[in-house]
Amino acid sequence: MMDDDATPHPTAPNPAPTGTRRRDLLRGAIAAGIGAGAGLSAGLLASSAAEDDDAPHASGPDTSGTPATGRAASVAADGDQQAGIARPDTPQPHGLLLALDLPDVPEPGAADAAFRDRLRELCAGLGRSIMTLTSADSADTAGLLDGPGDLTVTVGLGPRVMAALDPQLPGAEPLPAFAGDDAVPATRAGGDLLIATYGSDPNDVHRAAHWLAEAVPDATVRWSQRGFRAPGSGTVARNPLGFHDGVIVPRGDHELAEHVWIPDGPMAGGSICVVRRLRLDTTAFAAEPVEHQEAVIGRHRHDGSPLSGGGPSDEVDLLAKTPDGQYVTPVRSHVRAAHPALTGSHLMLRRGYAFDDGVTDGTADAGLLFICFQRDLRTFVQTQFRLDETDALTEYVTPTGSATFLILPGFSADRPLGATLP
Ligand code: HEM
Repeated sequence: MMDDDATPHPTAPNPAPTGTRRRDLLRGAIAAGIGAGAGLSAGLLASSAAEDDDAPHASGPDTSGTPATGRAASVAADGDQQAGIARPDTPQPHGLLLALDLPDVPEPGAADAAFRDRLRELCAGLGRSIMTLTSADSADTAGLLDGPGDLTVTVGLGPRVMAALDPQLPGAEPLPAFAGDDAVPATRAGGDLLIATYGSDPNDVHRAAHWLAEAVPDATVRWSQRGFRAPGSGTVARNPLGFHDGVIVPRGDHELAEHVWIPDGPMAGGSICVVRRLRLDTTAFAAEPVEHQEAVIGRHRHDGSPLSGGGPSDEVDLLAKTPDGQYVTPVRSHVRAAHPALTGSHLMLRRGYAFDDGVTDGTADAGLLFICFQRDLRTFVQTQFRLDETDALTEYVTPTGSATFLILPGFSADRPLGATLP
């Protein structure tokens, strides 16, 4: 679970403090009909920020216990929630997502007892394999010759499978089509089973994912994507555009419970994951003057601080205006477009990776493997629809992959993965 007392890395950007209360107030004001810029006083914002005295401490990297061999410290696979979402605090530098198709998935609501039993056994088997993979036995069983290091595995089920069990379950709803999604090939959209592996050793990340996938009877890999992350602290690292990313996210047990973990029902402790493979025109973006890049994002490039003032981990002030009445955080900036106060949604935990699959016909197939977690799919959907409408960043973005998965609740030796599937 989250290490609320971890200290930030001294050389890395400051992780963000919580902003829930401030956001709640702002959201409340907007819900009451007081739109941004229409009279919410700076005094209210200032006092609400000052009230935020129960902020969990910022996340830092998990460095305690790093073996002298250079092998990264292990991360527990068991727990109330799966690994790879909020632990380790600092996402590992390499990741691989495998989206698999399962055979004979019934129509929505039509899963019979045999399908349910098969699915539960599949998940329980995956859970047992993950325990083996992340234990001292991993060298013998899966060929991780130097041990598991910080390898983590996260398992999710796609909407087809969840809907077959019960169309009312979290995760049963597919993603709607967003602007530009007609460019997403069917071969890189959706999937019934997600196996996501992360770690410091890129070979083991590959080996572990495929070792697990091969053991799933009759499953085929529909699509896969490797990703890598720049060095960072907590969720904050520079993204392929060179900007600090992952600054404003829920942190600490309290905010994760409020925004990320499904609170009740059979899937309590799970989460809704959205994956978007977003090709970025980094050449065009880099050719823009820095001031323009910063206006597109809404934060400074060198340290991630908001254009509206404050430090690297501070929230943007959507109401701040220049002396001539313009918003300091531009109207079409990405952070304004994505801000939960304006989308009316919860916070999402963004934990993305960069990808680079080379150049084909002169076009670089590289960008951001956007990965986020929330307790309700609407958080992502409402945000993405708003980005489609107003975000200046979309000019540089082409969606090339898209999927959502219900991340199963955590498991342990006594509680098999998928035990609560109905
Ligand atoms: C094209 C790829 C994208 C890039 C390069 C990108 C980059 C950034 C950057 C640099 C920030 C500011 C720092 C931070 O708070 O992390 C940010 C904030 C944010 N982004 Fe993105 N982003 C992308 C796509 C998306 C998508 C697809 C969503 C969700 C639909 C999203 C949601 C958010 C949210 C919620 C924030 C925080 C806004 C706030 O409350 O201040 N981003 N993004």
